[in-house]
Amino acid sequence: MHAVILAGGFATRLRPLSCSRPKTLFPIVNKPLLQWIFEEFVDNDIKEVVLAVNALTQFHIKQRKLPKCGLKIKYVIDPPKTPLGTAGSIKNAEKIVGHSEPFVVLNGDIFSNINYKQLFDTHIKTGALATVALCKCDDPCKYGVAELEDDNCIKSFIEKPTKVQTPTNLINAGVYVLSPKVFEYIPKGKQCSIEREIFPVLAKERKLFGHRFDGLWMDIGNPQEYLLTNKIILDRLFLSNIPKTFKNAKVKMPIKVDKHVNIGKQTVIGPYTVLGRNVTIGSNVQICNSVVFSDTKIGDNTIVNGAIIGEGAIIGKNVRVNNGCIVADQAKIRDNINLIENFAVCPAKEVSETILKRNIIC
Ligand code: GDD
Ligand code: MG
Repeated sequence: MHAVILAGGFATRLRPLSCSRPKTLFPIVNKPLLQWIFEEFVDNDIKEVVLAVNALTQFHIKQRKLPKCGLKIKYVIDPPKTPLGTAGSIKNAEKIVGHSEPFVVLNGDIFSNINYKQLFDTHIKTGALATVALCKCDDPCKYGVAELEDDNCIKSFIEKPTKVQTPTNLINAGVYVLSPKVFEYIPKGKQCSIEREIFPVLAKERKLFGHRFDGLWMDIGNPQEYLLTNKIILDRLFLSNIPKTFKNAKVKMPIKVDKHVNIGKQTVIGPYTVLGRNVTIGSNVQICNSVVFSDTKIGDNTIVNGAIIGEGAIIGKNVRVNNGCIVADQAKIRDNINLIENFAVCPAKEVSETILKRNIIC
């Protein structure tokens, strides 16, 4: 079975971290999201993958040299100046996917344990042209929303409805099975959204069906959701662990620490903290509810709480990195700086004085 992964968006809500890496390569407890997706595919008998990307995303993915897990991987690239949108990039994959059987489509920023085989079976049973995985959500306005009939036929599909328009709390999980006939609905080489332009048409023709599931599902599309995804996975991986001591430092579980990490004396790591490879942390540091990417250095007496620290960043001594802060790759925070809540520092920028106003350093 083929799967198409849509990963050519601009990840604007994850800037400035996404300035230097695509969403699908963001680490989830130290493993890139795309690698988690590949592993799930292998467990679901998916053998061939088409990555629908832009040229920059393709560059980043190839550079990363992820294990292919035995999958056959191909790329289709959006034209440089005109992103094709979700449907346009699926159409772009037609030449590889072919017309012999239905195929899976997945948004490349989804962390989920959905059973693709069951989704596929539902698709075959109903004879739908498109089957959308649906999950319940408290805030459906941020997503695509489906109104279901008793036979699971989708009566209406509205992308990001207003509160008034929202018919249900069943949202599009960003995972579909499509029959090759859907290619006939999508114009070639043009920008087109499957959610706004294709699903509503299929719903009117009663060819769009839903498949509800209750499993694990997250869209890592903004910093809060990204931290929450790491938190949920930490809970799943370390459910039974109790706080213990990590060499000279104190550890409050759950945490995940990659290889070659150095931690100084009297430092407290956790709870809900991920430290990437080659991270060096000084003495008397506190880090909680945070994700620290690889090759980062954090100086003595610093406190990091509820933040994301990018790859190769350097955080000085006596620094406060407060809730919601993002320090992008290779950025440098000098000693004694207090980064106020939700402060963002762009890649390779240096913060050398205490910033008192909400701002972004670009
Ligand atoms: N190749 C390509 N070209 N990929 C694209 C393009 C494009 O022009 N635009 C977006 N994508 C990819 C993104 O990289 C992402 O993986 C996926 O398509 C969905 O785009 P998002 O920007 O993340 O959309 P969203 O999260 O606001 O909404 C979508 O996902 C929700 C579930 O998380 C929609 O599908 C909603 O209906 C859905 O509920
Ligand atoms: Mg998304």
